[in-house]
Amino acid sequence: MCGIVGIIGNKPAAPRLLEGLKRLEYRGYDSAGIATLENGHLDRRRASGKLFNLEAAQEADPLNGPIGIGHTRWASHGAPTVKNAHPIAAGTVAVVHNGIIENFLDLKSELEGHGKIFDTDTDTEVVAQLVAREIENGATPKQAVGTVLPRLEGAFALVFLFDGDTQTLIGARKGSPLALGKGEGEMYLGSDAIALAPLTSQVIYLEEGDWVVLSHTGHEIFDLTGAPVQRPWQQTSAYALLIDKGNHRNFMVKEIFDQPEVIGHTFANYIDLASRTVKQDALKVEFANLERLTVCACGTAFYAGMAAKYWFEKYARLPVDVDIASEFRYREAPLDKNGLALFISQSGETADTLAALQYCRDNGQKIASIVNVQESTIARDSDMIIPTFAGPEVGVASTKAFTCQLTVLACLAIAAGRARGHLTSAQEIALVSSLIGVPRHVADITNRSDEIEGVAKRIITARDILFLGRGINYPIALEGALKLKEISYIHAEGYAAGELKHGPIALVDDNVPVIIVAPRDNLFEKTVSNMQEVAARGGQIIMITDADEREGIGTELFDLIHVPKADAFINPLLYAIPVQLLAYHAAVLLGTDVDQPRNLAKSVTIE
Ligand code: M6R
Repeated sequence: MCGIVGIIGNKPAAPRLLEGLKRLEYRGYDSAGIATLENGHLDRRRASGKLFNLEAAQEADPLNGPIGIGHTRWASHGAPTVKNAHPIAAGTVAVVHNGIIENFLDLKSELEGHGKIFDTDTDTEVVAQLVAREIENGATPKQAVGTVLPRLEGAFALVFLFDGDTQTLIGARKGSPLALGKGEGEMYLGSDAIALAPLTSQVIYLEEGDWVVLSHTGHEIFDLTGAPVQRPWQQTSAYALLIDKGNHRNFMVKEIFDQPEVIGHTFANYIDLASRTVKQDALKVEFANLERLTVCACGTAFYAGMAAKYWFEKYARLPVDVDIASEFRYREAPLDKNGLALFISQSGETADTLAALQYCRDNGQKIASIVNVQESTIARDSDMIIPTFAGPEVGVASTKAFTCQLTVLACLAIAAGRARGHLTSAQEIALVSSLIGVPRHVADITNRSDEIEGVAKRIITARDILFLGRGINYPIALEGALKLKEISYIHAEGYAAGELKHGPIALVDDNVPVIIVAPRDNLFEKTVSNMQEVAARGGQIIMITDADEREGIGTELFDLIHVPKADAFINPLLYAIPVQLLAYHAAVLLGTDVDQPRNLAKSVTIE
């Protein structure tokens, strides 16, 4: 995750860019840079390390132009050196970038084939080079950006500055946030309203796929297809500026929409994006000779652990015991000598998880933890911390923390597979490549939130709802039921689809929606046959699938939620999103307090 600011103004931009960057430092701080146009001439100051290094560089040799862009970086492609610090420049173009350009290797070799030389190790440079090439060939900045954007795959936000053009700043968002703001004869761009707070309280949050051309006094927004669109101005509130909710009505939905960005930010810590391999050293765990892994967590974090069991066992042939922490702590489980116990927690303060950790420590286990809050007690009590980078999660219902936990666990499973000799290098590259595609697919799903709202409207009158899944999608069914229960207060249960006939099928009648998590994987036919059992009893079947238009389903569906086709490895990360959105919309339609549902607490610090 990186932070972006842009100003097209009428007084020196640099001090104000630096102020904006300070507010964005929480998004990354391993290098920073600014570029401005002074008398139309583009110049940059960049520094590695924290922002004060950039401030010193600016003080030593000031940039004075009134138009500029700034960036605080959290390195994904290329080391955090000055050379790789943004703004990245090529020809007449400078660009700042947050996110990942998935197809940068293909684009880079195309450009190198045409004789272009690359100065940096970043994926961002392909964007600068492509736009610069269009301009060299006679395009205006607006035409150049409009031509290049559709060629970029991934989830990202970009802001461009053009040498010799003092009237134009261009921003684009696809999967990563970008807001624009207006002042007196000035316009601004920023990763969030917090960055723009000293400049303005009037903002427009760009929507997915939007790009915007700014002048000093106006803006034109275009959507994904290039068609002009209008987006409303909003007044940011003081509270929103403490933790920015963007244009979302509550934190939970904001956090659902954060997922393309934070998943990318999380995996960028653990995989080398250029070689498409896992960074064994960042993942810290010694898997080669491990005989068994004990995983403990509560609630949603426990379901992440359940999903991980399928990954570790399949890809690394590593036996995994996964347990609810509140049960594990009392069952006096015998543990292997010198074994490894893995704890998963968003808050890092959950009392039951902490007690289970203590039990494992007392029984000679090495302790690894996947936590979101790195200063937490669980983190401090662990031998190895493998952080998620979800950012603060405010909504009581866990969403982005869950998918970031899955992301780390997926990386760990690949690392274990390699270390234990069960994955070849080619298989590692294939799995990592599919993981890199997750932010893009997740953004595709969140973009269809309105369709999922339509499905939610059809289920909110139900008294009971069943969620079914098989294999690694079974924990997703459990998570779907938990999400729906906790925020909409509709009774829901998750079951392994094959288990239905052993009892729960007695619940099915024509008033019971049955939500089936069914990607077209090796268990699809089996899940469909479980679905027929439900259909035969009149259940209202809602299928969440990547299967083509009712392909191979052979039964009448009550509704269908479509998910992009992807490698089965990443399915849990994708199928988590529709179940979150379904619960969210159901809760909003029922008028419950989505962010702070009754009887719950964000962090459960009591037994
Ligand atoms: O902070 P933790 O991840 O340890 O919390 C665990 C559970 O309390 C938490 O996941 C809870 O189930 C959520 N409310 C689920 O949305």
